[in-house]
Amino acid sequence: MFDSGVGGLSVWREIVRRLPTESTLYFADQAHVPYGPRPVDELRRLSEGITRFFVEHDCKAVVVACNTASAAALKYLRETFPTLVVIGMEPAVKPATARTRSRVVGVMATPATFQGRLFQATAGRFAAHVRLVNQVCDGLAEQVESGVLEGPEVDALLARFLDPMLAAGADTVVLACTHYAFLIDAIARRAGPGVEVIDPAPAIARHLANLLAAKNLLAASAQPASHAFVTTGAPPTFDALAARLVGAPVRSSAAQWHDDRIEMVSRPG
Ligand code: DGL
Repeated sequence: MFDSGVGGLSVWREIVRRLPTESTLYFADQAHVPYGPRPVDELRRLSEGITRFFVEHDCKAVVVACNTASAAALKYLRETFPTLVVIGMEPAVKPATARTRSRVVGVMATPATFQGRLFQATAGRFAAHVRLVNQVCDGLAEQVESGVLEGPEVDALLARFLDPMLAAGADTVVLACTHYAFLIDAIARRAGPGVEVIDPAPAIARHLANLLAAKNLLAASAQPASHAFVTTGAPPTFDALAARLVGAPVRSSAAQWHDDRIEMVSRPG
């Protein structure tokens, strides 16, 4: 699975919990974080390069653990790698519209996620009778990426992003960026007790489990699982933050982009 950085670990931890015998390879493209402001063409090129890297490492399924990359490249990846199982993040508009009583749903995401056709299609399909208040949350993923999960800066950003949707009457808030799941406590606190905050990660893990079972691709239960992490940023920085976020030691390896290809480099130090 891949993300621009540590955000996808919120999906990784759900997948590992649900599928404990599956081995994983997590790729953080921290050389390019944040993905949110990047154009579609670039996001497709990056997503394709990372997926090719996964194919070279014999992955049987790819989870695009990033709403931004999913919005830009999910369809493209499925067309480019037709025999591979490719799953992406779909904004949880469907469950939100089923749960809202006020019929107002707030959606928090990056700019590229809202621009993508995937979001337009999901919104059009499921939110016909519900008002969606779409909020671009500039700078929020960057807070998580730098390890700031609470405090005055996060509170100020959350006030700016959440207050307009609360004022509009939202009683349900969708986290449509995988980084935001690590801020769910702060988001729920700001939103207050009457508001439900939806993180789609458990549903994605369930979907992956169902798909692997249906395709007869589940790992044998006797097999010990291994978990590898690769970053195009600095491994020590990734490891320290990832360990905090998932509550277990993490040891990543470094990789580098060479044009559109990814190559492993030896770990510094
Ligand atoms: N975690 C990514 C997402 O789900 C995006 C964060 C970024 O802008 O890089 O959209």
